[in-house]
Order: sequence, then C-alpha cells, then structure tokens
Amino acid sequence: MINKVRFVEPSKLYLMIKDELDAAYFDVMSKGELIDRSHLKKFEENLAKFVGTKYAVGLNSGYDSLQLSLRAAGIGAGDEVIVPAHTFVASCSAIVNVGATPVLVDVAPDFNIDVDKIEEAITENTKAIMAVHLSGWMADMPRIMKIAEKNNLKVIEDACQSLGSSINGKGAGSWGLTGCFSFYPFKILGGYGDGGAITTNDENVATFARRMRFNGEDRATGEYCGHGFTCLLDNLQAAFLDVKLAKLPEWIKRRQWIAEKYRQSLSDIPDLLLPHYNREGSDHVYQNYTLRSKHGNEFSDYLKSNGVEVLTQFRKPYYKHEALKLVDRGFPETEALSREVCSLPMNVEIDNEEIDYVIKVVRSFYGK
Ligand SMILES: Cc1ncc(COP(=O)(O)O)c(C=O)c1O
Repeated sequence: MINKVRFVEPSKLYLMIKDELDAAYFDVMSKGELIDRSHLKKFEENLAKFVGTKYAVGLNSGYDSLQLSLRAAGIGAGDEVIVPAHTFVASCSAIVNVGATPVLVDVAPDFNIDVDKIEEAITENTKAIMAVHLSGWMADMPRIMKIAEKNNLKVIEDACQSLGSSINGKGAGSWGLTGCFSFYPFKILGGYGDGGAITTNDENVATFARRMRFNGEDRATGEYCGHGFTCLLDNLQAAFLDVKLAKLPEWIKRRQWIAEKYRQSLSDIPDLLLPHYNREGSDHVYQNYTLRSKHGNEFSDYLKSNGVEVLTQFRKPYYKHEALKLVDRGFPETEALSREVCSLPMNVEIDNEEIDYVIKVVRSFYGK
C-alpha cells in the first residue's frame, strides 16, 4: 500500500540505469579523464544535435550559461534586459551580475512571459530579451523573435527547464543567440551535481564561452583572451549526462503520458487549472506538472500531509525579496499564480501506482 510519493527519486532512477552509469564511471575513472576531455566533447556534440544547433558548450551550471550568454552578447552596465517576473531568480541575477538592469514583465496564464507586454517595457537602453521557457513549455518564440528583430534586440533563451520542447519542430535553445540549459539533478536532464550548457549557432559565441569557462584561455595557443571564470562542465558529469541524453526522447514520452493521466483524472475539478495549452505545433515536455489551485497553501499542505511531495515555486515572487532591490511595476498574473501554484510529482522513476495515489489524494481534497 502506497502512502508516500516523492517529488523526484534520484536513487531509484540510478538503479534503473545503473549498468550504463557504472560503465560510464568506470570508463572515465580508469582513463583518468577529468577536465575538458573526450566525454565532454562527445556530450556537447550530442547535445547540439539534440537541440538543433551547431555548437554546445558544457558549463558548470545554468546560471553560468546565462551570465556567459549575456557577456557574449556584449551586455553590461547601462543596458536593460527584459525578463519575466515569474522565473527562477537566476534568470534575473545573471542580468544584475553582468552590470545590466533587469526590466521585469508579467507572465501570461501559461507561466511564460506575456508577449503582449514586452513592447511597452522596451526603452532606448533595452539590449536583449531573456525568454524563459518554464516547466517544459516554451515561451512564444515566433512572436518574441519578431519583436526582437523589429527592435534590434538580442534574444537569450533561458531553456533551463525545457530541454526537448519545441515549437514547429524547432527546439528550445535553438532560436535565440544562445540557449541556456541547467543539468541540476532534478532537471529533465539532471546530472549528479551541478552542470549546464550554452547552445548556439554562432561560432564566435561558442568560442567565447569555451574560453571564458577556462579562465579566458584559448586552449590551443595558451593566450588569455579576457578575464574569465572556472566554470566547465566536469568530464565525469558529461559522461553521465550523455547516458541520460540518449534516453531523453523516450523519457519525455513517459512524462507526457503521466501528464495526460493527470489531465484525464483531474480535469473534472473546476478549481484546478491544469497545464495543458492549445498552441499549434508546441510540445510540452513536462519538466514540471504545475497546476493552480485557488486553495493555495491549504491544497499543497494537504497533499504534503498525505504523503505527496509537491513543489510550490514560488510563493514569494523573487522581486519581492528586498535584498534584490528590484523594481516592482505591478505584475498581477505573477502575484495571483504565486499564491496558487503547486507542482505534482513528475519524473520518469515514478510508477503507475504512485501516480494513482497522487490522483487519489488530490481528488480527496475536493471530497471526490
Ligand atoms: C528557469 C531557470 N533558470 C536558471 C536556472 C539556473 O540553473 P542552475 O541551478 O543550474 O544554475 C534554473 C535552475 O535551477 C532555472 O530553472
């Protein structure tokens, strides 16, 4: 009898693919290949192919992919970058940490930037739009690219939560100057520690990122091409990620199956706003299954107290954290959804019985 369902269960997933992960570990360790070696190159090639770009550059984290992208775009002091009011704080912190000013824009009911509100936030100082694809569902890139072209802005895609999603067959991370990915363990492609990557079709951007991740050094000549950082993706992590990347298409199907099961079992509850959207040609890969309930904490606390681990990101919007000193221009959709969001367990290691248990607990909250 099930009475507890974890939000994610990395140890269970490890056991599902233990042989391949162990073989990757043995290969790396027995060759002593630790930094900037063959496993990293192979993973980068496979990632670029998967996303649909010419290049991928493995980095320490999603955050580093964002801050290096902004630097590659030449963004710094005096520049403004548009970013959604509802995202993980790192999207915004990267802008602040390169010396630029984030200009926040409210989101639409699909949790992504409200495209209708972008143009009114553009000023003569605006240099870029950071388009965040939240939870596995892409922002409306065709419209965002049009606005960017019209206003001569760079586009950086924060695709940290959306590897594998696409619009009209064009992958997240292949639209803007760069795509930024995180391999934080709980991501759709999670490592066993921190990790990230930039994808791009621009050779100069790829070269810039490769140098900057290695303290600015051109590895072929030893020349320091700028003041850089130490932020490479470890060779060992790359080997693990490559094992998982090969399984991602199959895993995305499983996630979509689970999402459909949730939809079929919960769509008769009027209070619940489920994350299923109609936009032709768009694929949701369900990094997270984030629904909205007007009952907010009462709903999420009930699930937790009945053994269903849920995520409530983010009850307090990041711009409300005083220390961040951000300008709150009024973001009604972000405010409303922050009170209501609740992400149900969504991962590939969950089994059907556990999904049924989650559904049972959600339904019981509504007396069903
Ligand atoms: C939307 C978004 N942006 C940026 C990041 C930062 O990624 P990382 O934690 O790998 O630095 C994350 C992940 O946590 C994220 O979800």
